[in-house]
Amino acid sequence: MLEFKNVSKIYAGGKKAVDNLDLHINAGEFIVFIGPSGCGKTTTMKMINRLVKPTEGKILINGENIMEKNIVQLRRSIGYVIQQIGLFPHMTIRENIALVPRLMKKSVDERNNKADELIELVNMPKEFLDRYPHELSGGQQQRIGVLRALAADPPLILMDEPFGALDPITRDSLQAEFKHLQRTLGKTIIFVTHDMDEAIKLADRIVIMKDGKIVQMGTPDEILRDPANEFVEDFIGKDRLLQAQQRIQTVGQIMNPNPVSFKTEGTLSQAVQLMRERRVDSLLVVDENNVLKGLLNVEMIDRGRNMETQVKEVMSTELTVVQEDTLLREATRNILIRGLKYVAVVDEDRRLVGLITRTNLVDIVYDSIWGESEEQTLGQV
Ligand SMILES: Nc1ncnc2c1ncn2[C@@H]1O[C@H](COP(=O)(O)OP(=O)(O)OP(=O)(O)O)[C@@H](O)[C@H]1O
Ligand SMILES: [Mg+2]
Repeated sequence: MLEFKNVSKIYAGGKKAVDNLDLHINAGEFIVFIGPSGCGKTTTMKMINRLVKPTEGKILINGENIMEKNIVQLRRSIGYVIQQIGLFPHMTIRENIALVPRLMKKSVDERNNKADELIELVNMPKEFLDRYPHELSGGQQQRIGVLRALAADPPLILMDEPFGALDPITRDSLQAEFKHLQRTLGKTIIFVTHDMDEAIKLADRIVIMKDGKIVQMGTPDEILRDPANEFVEDFIGKDRLLQAQQRIQTVGQIMNPNPVSFKTEGTLSQAVQLMRERRVDSLLVVDENNVLKGLLNVEMIDRGRNMETQVKEVMSTELTVVQEDTLLREATRNILIRGLKYVAVVDEDRRLVGLITRTNLVDIVYDSIWGESEEQTLGQV
C-alpha cells in the first residue's frame, strides 16, 4: 500500500537525513520506526504527507506517486499524530476531534455523531466532549490526539512518538488500547518511537534506522532472534535478547521424544493391552515407516466391537500436527485455543518424532506468565 523507492532527503546545508530508503508496507500493517535521535525517522514520516519534500526517489500510495496527488486530499487521507499532542487549546474536545471532518464540509450532525462514536472507542465519557484540552490529563489528551487522527477515517495514520511524554503506566494502557483499536479498525500505521519495548509490543514489523539508512527490518521475533549486527544488539539491549531467547522456544526443545505409538496393522485387543501397560488413554498410530496415520483413544473402542478388528478401521485420521521447529508459542495457541489434549510432532515426511501435551504446555505458559508478572512488580518499585 505504501512504497518508498530509493528515497533520499538532503536538507539545505548538505546533511543527508534519509539515505536511499527502499521500503514496502502492506495495507493493515503496524510499522514501527526506531533508531537514535537524528537518524531520520521524523523526516521519513513527514515525506509521506509531504511536509518534507524528498530530494530523490519516489513515494507511492496504492501505486500512485504522492507528488502527483492533490496535496490537500493527500493530507486528509492520512491521519497524523505528533509528539506534542497538538490539540488546539481554544477548541473543545468535540471541535478538536471533528476538525478534519469540518474541513471536509461534513454537516454538524455528522461531526457530532463521529465525535460521540469515537470517544466511546476509548472508553471516555461523552461529557468530556464539551471540555477544553487543559481540563484533561496528559493521557486523556493523548487519546483525543489519536481520535482526531481517526476522525476522517483515513486508511493510513502516521504517529510520531505519540506516547513519548506519558508516564509508564498510562503509556502501557494506551499502547494496549491502541493496538486493539488498530486491529479492530484495520488501519495501516507508521509509528515512530525511541522505546524498544514499545516497538516490540506494537509492531508487526520494526524498521531499525541509523544515519538515514535501514539497518534491519523484520518482525519483532526476527529481530530479537537474529539481530543484523552489533548496533542492533546494543539497541535491543542484552537483557531483552536474553529474555527473547528464552521466550523463543521451539516444539523440539520441550517435546516428549518417545510417544507411545502403535502400528496400523495391530488389532484393538493389542492396542488396549498396550494402553494398559503404558497407562495411557490414547495411542498415535503409525505405519511400517513410522509415518503418522491416525489416533486411537479408548472412547473409540466401544463395547460390543470385535476386538480383532484392525486399528486402522477404527482410528481417527483427523489430527493436528506440528513440526519440531514450530515455535512453541504457535503450538500453544493451537493446543490451548482449540482445546486439544496434545499434538503430535512430525518431520517433513510426516514421520512421528514426538508429542507435546496440554499439561506440559500449561506448565510452561504459567512459568512464563509468573516470570513476567514478578519482573513487572520489581520494575515498578
Ligand atoms: N528542517 C531541517 N533542516 C535541516 N536539517 C534538518 C531539518 N530537520 C531535520 N534535520 C536534520 O536531519 C536529521 C534527521 O532528523 P529527524 O528529525 O528526521 O530525526 P529523528 O530520527 O526524527 O530524530 P529524533 O529521534 O530526535 O526525533 C538530523 O540530523 C536533523 O538535524
Ligand atoms: Mg523525530
